[in-house]
Amino acid sequence: MSADLPAFRFDPNPSPVAANERTARLVDPGFGRVFTDHMALIRYTEGRGWHDAQITARAPLTVDPSTAVLHYAQEIFEGLKAYRLDDGDVALFRADANARRFRDSARRLAMPELPDALFLESCRKLVETERDWIPTIDGGALYLRPFMIASEAFLGVKPSAEYIYMVIASSVGAYWKGGARAVSIWVSRDYSRAAPGGTGAAKCGGNYAASLAAQSEAIRQGCDQVVFLDAVERRWVEELGGMNVFFVFDDGSLVTPPLTGTILPGITRESIIRIARDQGMTVREELYGIDQWCADAASGRLVEAFACGTAAVVTPIGQVKSADGDFTIGSGGTGQTTQRMLDALTAIQRGRGTDAHGWVQRLG
Ligand code: PLP
Ligand code: COI
Repeated sequence: MSADLPAFRFDPNPSPVAANERTARLVDPGFGRVFTDHMALIRYTEGRGWHDAQITARAPLTVDPSTAVLHYAQEIFEGLKAYRLDDGDVALFRADANARRFRDSARRLAMPELPDALFLESCRKLVETERDWIPTIDGGALYLRPFMIASEAFLGVKPSAEYIYMVIASSVGAYWKGGARAVSIWVSRDYSRAAPGGTGAAKCGGNYAASLAAQSEAIRQGCDQVVFLDAVERRWVEELGGMNVFFVFDDGSLVTPPLTGTILPGITRESIIRIARDQGMTVREELYGIDQWCADAASGRLVEAFACGTAAVVTPIGQVKSADGDFTIGSGGTGQTTQRMLDALTAIQRGRGTDAHGWVQRLG
């Protein structure tokens, strides 16, 4: 760590969860409900910069009711996983890309940029402290949730003068209830997620708050997830509430929506583009319309579609429903290309495949 960045203080949790209780919680943790004993925390104050870095007992926050984040949602977050490799080592996957995206999100939300070295050190130190919380079940991982909130107690609408950056860790299994399976998605016609010039490319809590009414509509319609269309023409497929999307054609090529500024530049998305190209596949980042999607599924030109993200990894899309009708993609199950992308990605993440791009950072 460079000399002008704060060093981490370690305050161990005086009453961590007992080993037998932890083992019980790791049998079937689901997603985002089982949390570890510690958290990372760094404070920022205008004029003083980043200070007071610590790994400490996970505990509730006490904040003044006027704290800026509670009113104006000046908040950003990240999501990345630590994996247990077959040889027993623990590794992070592309954490440097998350650090970069966290700075990009910070700039868009008028927040201070956390130096990459602090982001990476906070994740590494927390994983080293909590390695016993990584589930050994198939697909298990430690999901890290770095986030930053505006912590100044002030009701004026302006960038906060104080911030708290934290990382919490959650032991996770499959993101979807019922494990890995093809999901159904609802096409939102009434709601937009992000507009040009807005915050769609940033990972800020406000984007997710804005997506919840559409996600609730999807659930009411019997679907797992919502897919958003662009806000201007209401025509181009953008992304799901928490995942990017890929289309697979009968000539073996892949299409994914381009990074126009309204969708999140997913790290899984970028990894799949690289893996597919490494395998000799053609990948196009181009606009794809909802009507075309429906027509191509009917004609058989489109053979598969899948969603991807850190939490959901690679998930086949089986059914698409909308106010205009429903359609099924391919067999409605997991297609060959989707499975191949899932296998190739997880092989690298788990240290089983060749890590040609240096994506896996072993922590020992
Ligand atoms: N799109 C949205 C809206 C997301 O929340 C996520 C999840 O982080 C993604 C896409 C996928 O991004 P990544 O692959 O970096 O996890
Ligand atoms: C992730 O995949 O990391 C996400 O952030 C998706 C969702 C849990 C918000």
